[in-house]
Amino acid sequence: MEECQNILEIRNLKKSYMINKENSLQVLKGLNISIGSGEMVALMGASGCGKTTLINLICGIDKADSGSIMIDHEEITKMRRSKMAVFRRNNIGLIFQDFNLLESLNVKDNILLPLILENRIEDSEEKLKQIAEVLSIAEIMGKSVTDISGGQKQRVAIARALINTPQIILADEPTGNLDSKSTENVMEYLVDINRKFKITLVMVTHDSYAASFCDKVILLKDGIQFLEIEKNNKSNSTFLKDIYELLKRIGGE
Ligand SMILES: Nc1ncnc2c1ncn2[C@@H]1O[C@H](COP(=O)(O)OP(=O)(O)O)[C@@H](O)[C@H]1O
Ligand SMILES: [Mg+2]
Repeated sequence: MEECQNILEIRNLKKSYMINKENSLQVLKGLNISIGSGEMVALMGASGCGKTTLINLICGIDKADSGSIMIDHEEITKMRRSKMAVFRRNNIGLIFQDFNLLESLNVKDNILLPLILENRIEDSEEKLKQIAEVLSIAEIMGKSVTDISGGQKQRVAIARALINTPQIILADEPTGNLDSKSTENVMEYLVDINRKFKITLVMVTHDSYAASFCDKVILLKDGIQFLEIEKNNKSNSTFLKDIYELLKRIGGE
């Protein structure tokens, strides 16, 4: 069945960085992760454990030493850089901690930028309208991004990630620069787009509260997937307690 298929399959993934002429640091030591289509998953782990490294490998910005990453049955670890760039544009939406918006453009043009760059701007109005409505940003389309709040900025960044109709959204600490009220707000919108657009969402966070909105938490430790817990039918607050317990047990953050 289509719904049961894994959209992301990571097998025995290894990644090291050279830290000087003689020494390298192995960050990922044989990581295995499977994520089903339509799931909303939090990747957690202590600072420096390799979360951003993993996101950079999944979106093909960086190359693994060995192992494989399959996105929708395409082995991206075997793709050439140019093919990967096209694949990324068509299939992956990216969201960052610091929003990565262009201050010289207004909200609307920031969202449309991925299409503008590809000359695919025609027929975008309807899509834009739909996305803006779901994210409650229709009223701020003409504003400069310097005149909106942090929470609004992240919703604009989510809209930009959605405009190309990706299969999967990767978010690296999307609530890292937000206060607790905006964190709640942005997480509720991420849940909404996960459900409404049936988009797979993989979110890196060290914030248990943000993670409690997800269906599943995968904890990274010592370069591998250390533990995985599922929300099932629990409420956010019950799942949050489970996440706290888990982190306490392994002596994490
Ligand atoms: N380009 C790089 N060169 C050398 N070391 C790096 C590089 N990028 C990350 N690292 C190191 O790899 C480890 C994992 O980093 P990162 O993936 O950013 O961790 P996280 O996002 O979980 O905090 C850290 O020790 C970091 O210093
Ligand atoms: Mg990081």
